[in-house]
Amino acid sequence: MQWQISVNIREEKKLTLLAYVVRQDDQAITRLLASLRLADEAHLQSRLKKEKFSGRAGQVFVIINKNQIILLLGLGQFKKITSEHWRQATGSLVSYLRNYQTDSIGLVLNNWLQGSSDVQLLGQSLAEGLSLAQYSFDRYKKTDKNKIKVAVKTVWLQMLSGHKKRFEQGWKKGELLAQATNLARDLVNEPAEVMTPTFLAEEARRIAKANRRIVVKILEEDKVKKMGMGGFWAVDKGSREPLKFIHLTYRPRGRAKDRVALVGKGITFDSGGLNLKPEMGMADMKIDMAGAAAVLGVFSALSQLDCKLEVQGFIAACENMPSGSSIRPGDVVRTISGRTIEIANTDAEGRVTLADAFGYAQRQGLKTIVDLATLTGAVMIALGENYTGLFANDDKLARALEVSAELAGEKMWRLPLPEEYKKLNDSKIADIRNIPSTRYGGAITAALFLQEFIDKGVDWAHLDIAGPAYADKPLNNYTPLGGVGYGVRTILNWLGK
Ligand code: BES
Ligand code: MN
Ligand code: ZN
Repeated sequence: MQWQISVNIREEKKLTLLAYVVRQDDQAITRLLASLRLADEAHLQSRLKKEKFSGRAGQVFVIINKNQIILLLGLGQFKKITSEHWRQATGSLVSYLRNYQTDSIGLVLNNWLQGSSDVQLLGQSLAEGLSLAQYSFDRYKKTDKNKIKVAVKTVWLQMLSGHKKRFEQGWKKGELLAQATNLARDLVNEPAEVMTPTFLAEEARRIAKANRRIVVKILEEDKVKKMGMGGFWAVDKGSREPLKFIHLTYRPRGRAKDRVALVGKGITFDSGGLNLKPEMGMADMKIDMAGAAAVLGVFSALSQLDCKLEVQGFIAACENMPSGSSIRPGDVVRTISGRTIEIANTDAEGRVTLADAFGYAQRQGLKTIVDLATLTGAVMIALGENYTGLFANDDKLARALEVSAELAGEKMWRLPLPEEYKKLNDSKIADIRNIPSTRYGGAITAALFLQEFIDKGVDWAHLDIAGPAYADKPLNNYTPLGGVGYGVRTILNWLGK
């Protein structure tokens, strides 16, 4: 996607598709329409009234002017406009691009940048919306020869030259963030037959090869066992796919401002194991590596974003399958920390693999850990499909993630880690049990389980992304059905600060 900045795109360029972004303000819209000096202005002004176009967020007014399509994209009330509105606006442009079979668009922005305090964020959000909306996963579809696939080739942006520099910085960042998100989407959408632990490890290797400041280390089964990651090792036992423990390290140029660990749940298929899931519960379980996909997406962009922190990524990748060699309900496993877990239900496998990943990460001396995991169905009962459950043992870390998520347009809501619920995870024969004694508050008890494996003095946040990791229907203008790539932009925004 190329982009060019120009001062008067309507006069200079013969664009098929030209978009003006408008706020909810009847007078301003009337004035804008007049300034376009179209032959049928009077008719258009009355059409505005008839169609009740007032510039509400998401409203679009289409003007067909000879060979040109002019769109007015409503953003809503000026004071309420956020970066998410901008993302939605350029996201919606892509569907018009498809309808009118063109590959270049013009976007007139002068008025917006003048009053805007954050020109860079605006550029970033517009680029994100445009790149994210063009994503589709059609690798396995017979290509329809009559339906030409349209992609944005060139974007013409009209603004005053004084805004150019900051806008460009933001636009570039937005494109990178969108690419990283789209990579994570691809990994989630790929069927589990292809998206094996081995595939994830290869992907990590590819990312490390393409980025000079990233190194990768893959631990195989024998090493995992020898190191004492007995929980992770046991979850993989029933599968024919060999497990992979993936350890990525990004080192910034110069001295790192801080060091952080990202841990992603990497179950490439979750059948439930011997506690087999029912038909409905199993259908989408190729997505159980969405946390790992987000971590890989983040790593793919760190070098180009010139991240100033040292970032280490950890993925305990395996498949949870039933077979004669599966882990059984009632088994006890010993984790790398020395603590034992009673496996009361083989379908609560994610927390067992994460316990070992945390232990390994903490051995590297990391004092800040953020994990992303499709951990519980219960978080969807609590918060619905669009919200991530955020848990943290540190308020500052939680707040920083909330702010980053807000900027990314990714929804999350903090849930508590109550001391008095801890006993619900007690085991009669081991140090802890992998399912609680009650079905209430399942997202919380799972998070409390994870917290037991966090050492003193370590700041930790857990993102239960089971809901928003996957969209079973298109979610919005820039999020098509399938893997969402949730978390990539939140984490990259957070690491960028
Ligand atoms: N991977 C699932 C959680 C999940 C459910 C993710 C739906 C995405 C959509 C996890 O491993 C699981 O099976 N959790 C169980 C835990 C239970 C056995 C305590 C669950 O949520 O039912
Ligand atoms: Mn499970
Ligand atoms: Zn799972």
